[in-house]
Amino acid sequence: MENKGNSNNLMDKIVSLCKRRGFVFPSSEIYGGFASSYDYGPLGVELKNNIKKAWWDEMIKKHGTIVGLDSAILMSPKIWEASGHLTAGFADVMAECKKCQRRFREDYVGEGKCPECDGELTKGRKFNLMMKTFVGPVEDKASIAYLRAETCQGIYVNFQNVRESMRLKIPFGIAQIGKAFRNEITPGNFTYRTREFEQMEMQFFVHPKEADKWLDFWMKERLQWYVSYGIKKENLRLREQKKDELAHYSKRAADIEYKFPFGWKEVEGIHNRGDWDLKNHEKHSGKKLSYRDEETGRDFIPHIIETSAGADRSALTFLVDAYEEISGGRTVTTQSIKESEVILKLNKKLSPVKVAVFPLSKKEELSQKTKKVFNLLKVRFESQYDETGSIGKRYRRQDEIGTPYCITVDFETLKDNAVTVRDRDTMKQNRIKIEELEKYLSERLA
Ligand code: GAP
Repeated sequence: MENKGNSNNLMDKIVSLCKRRGFVFPSSEIYGGFASSYDYGPLGVELKNNIKKAWWDEMIKKHGTIVGLDSAILMSPKIWEASGHLTAGFADVMAECKKCQRRFREDYVGEGKCPECDGELTKGRKFNLMMKTFVGPVEDKASIAYLRAETCQGIYVNFQNVRESMRLKIPFGIAQIGKAFRNEITPGNFTYRTREFEQMEMQFFVHPKEADKWLDFWMKERLQWYVSYGIKKENLRLREQKKDELAHYSKRAADIEYKFPFGWKEVEGIHNRGDWDLKNHEKHSGKKLSYRDEETGRDFIPHIIETSAGADRSALTFLVDAYEEISGGRTVTTQSIKESEVILKLNKKLSPVKVAVFPLSKKEELSQKTKKVFNLLKVRFESQYDETGSIGKRYRRQDEIGTPYCITVDFETLKDNAVTVRDRDTMKQNRIKIEELEKYLSERLA
């Protein structure tokens, strides 16, 4: 009965749902859009915030050895020299069309002809992915700065500030969520690859002898996080990178991949960055970035195990995985209503709207009572009030955005002060006293 549809079709449906229901809009739409940029609508921003909160809580609360940071997007360009991002390490080989000036990735290099206008292509050259800007009133070489290409560099350059101010001993971690920018040559697949995106990165500082042990630990831990928030195990895999795939900073790495409609693709990278970052920042800044071993009294550069997830990619993963289509709809026998065709079976903690409240009809006395219930709940849970269309249509609207609970106020409510609470997944309906609603919902949404 349940049908995910074929791949492109499924992505088209998800893109359309996102636009129609206020998850994700094409950016600058009234001006014809802006290449591969997207805006999160009212439901999208709630979903992404819930994902970021779930990640933050996991890092900060669960482990007890990880602290947070929010560093600047604009930083000294020297950081990007030291990190290797301004040199060959962070570049794609591109060929440029002599006629239309478009650039194409390595895949096209060698074909000689531009796939867009048939013009002649130059030989492959390396193009850096850093986004350049100018700081201050003068646009000259001295004022060039870069939008950060990964959030973690802000963590490395604050390593001693954080360690000293928080009196931390290794192993410990620093977590950060924030925007990153890359001049991607081939963005695409909706929000999967964009030029502006958000990362959720955690850098774990360890003794060099323990790096492999912690890499293994974090690989398991991070894979489990996606499962614990409902991603189906069969759609996830951990793939160790081959030597020739490793980023310039990486000694050993694995990707957490998800089976998207467009293939198995990376959602998160877990890297053993060794001493690459701290050693290079120490060299370029002239400031000590070592750590004193209390037992031996010797200084050493801690090694870094990094977990690097995309907030946008995670949001897309959760949306794709939650999307279910029921052909023929579902039937609620008690009310013989043909129900929704699309259900977003998001984990309840991630759902953008937790509770929807409906009056059975638009009769004044029912609306009034329903609004009272809505006002009671809206301060605790993201809630919606809806009185338009049949109850079936209203259920369908909520299923489509993944709302876990729908509450109906009917004429009985006026007598017994109880409402019907319907569960998105089981479709079970329970009669609950209004004064017990808050407790009933918080137990199930916690
Ligand atoms: N600090 C390490 C680092 O940035 P990465 O593998 O280049 O590693 C980590 O990126 C994660 O950031 C990816 O797994 C992905 O989720 C997200 N990401 C990277 N580039 C992206 C892009 N162009 N669009 C959306 N997300 C991106």
